[in-house]
Amino acid sequence: MQISKKVEKMQPSGIRAFFDLVLGMEDVISLGVGEPDFVTPWPIREAGIYSLEEGFTSYTSNKGLYKLRLAISRHLKERYGLDYCPEEEILITVGVSEGLDLCLRAIVNPQDKILVPQPSYVSYGPVSELAGATPVYIDTQKDGFKLTPKNLEKNIDKNTKALILNYPANPSGVSYTKKELEELKKVILQHKILCISDEVYAELTYDFEHICFSSLSGAKNNTVYLNGFSKSYAMTGWRVGFACGPQEIIAAMTKIHQYTIMCVPITSQMAAAEALHSGKKSVEEMKREYKRRREFVLQELKVLGLECIRPDGAFYVFPRVSKTGMNGAEFAQRLLKREKVAVVPGSAFGGQFSDYIRISYASGYAELKEAFFRMGRFLKKI
Ligand SMILES: Cc1ncc(COP(=O)(O)O)c(C=O)c1O
Repeated sequence: MQISKKVEKMQPSGIRAFFDLVLGMEDVISLGVGEPDFVTPWPIREAGIYSLEEGFTSYTSNKGLYKLRLAISRHLKERYGLDYCPEEEILITVGVSEGLDLCLRAIVNPQDKILVPQPSYVSYGPVSELAGATPVYIDTQKDGFKLTPKNLEKNIDKNTKALILNYPANPSGVSYTKKELEELKKVILQHKILCISDEVYAELTYDFEHICFSSLSGAKNNTVYLNGFSKSYAMTGWRVGFACGPQEIIAAMTKIHQYTIMCVPITSQMAAAEALHSGKKSVEEMKREYKRRREFVLQELKVLGLECIRPDGAFYVFPRVSKTGMNGAEFAQRLLKREKVAVVPGSAFGGQFSDYIRISYASGYAELKEAFFRMGRFLKKI
């Protein structure tokens, strides 16, 4: 066999595995993927098109277009009072996905452990393993899907290198208040571990102000802050993200990036710069619509009798379905077969979440309505 042992033992993403079933079925309403139903706002698309018309078709600096790094630096200053130097502390990446991979590869040595609170985004564990680390999964079920300082501390040992913190979270939608983050920060600083903070859903926080982890007093030197344009600006296909962190870590990440990716496509970087320039209003509009959908979905879940933690942000709900007599996988499979509605089994986000399903409300309002109508019919018949 020619496949590396590490890759061979890696499981395909539970989301993908389930969606292979959906392929080939007609008229399926998918509440599965974490993809905004919005098209990238027109001025951003236009900036990409215009850059091509103008002949911008070359490589950029490995770190990314200076004008984009500068725009990010200014944006972070304005939004969080943060000072990130565009020359040395910001790297433009192929989405948060690449930023995460680079960061882990840049910091991990053999024996290192990476803490992953669960339920978690599907890639954290596998990417940690690929980087040569051992992921340590922290169950947060008892604490409403939130990492508590006590639970964090309990899982730290001498080999712990970093914590991957994601908020608002995929798949639960939970987020953290400043006070909660401050408490986590204390433990992180005390044990001198790194916080890899994936804040890709930051702009989709509905009820309170999102706090950037590195903006907490004293946290910046222990934080690699990851964000991108995929979710907030409906730009998943453009593949642009950014990593901000201590100069030494960003330099190490840039070395890997320079040998593997070279740079993010210039068209996408031009479009991303426009997003920061003129996209604020569109973000607000999309956020308002997601919020409306969140209320609808929560109301419908209540009617169906499915218990669910109220999400603070992102565009997911993570209800427990065991009351129906089915686990998440059975629920998802039968719902798909009978009513052609696709949701993701909770086990995709951690083995112990087999009683849950993830529903994305990034689909249109009308589709959501129809999907819940069908779900109601499905539950009445079982
Ligand atoms: C928590 C989280 N982080 C990262 C990503 C990947 O984002 P990007 O498109 O920026 O690579 C996703 C996508 O679903 C996500 O949910």
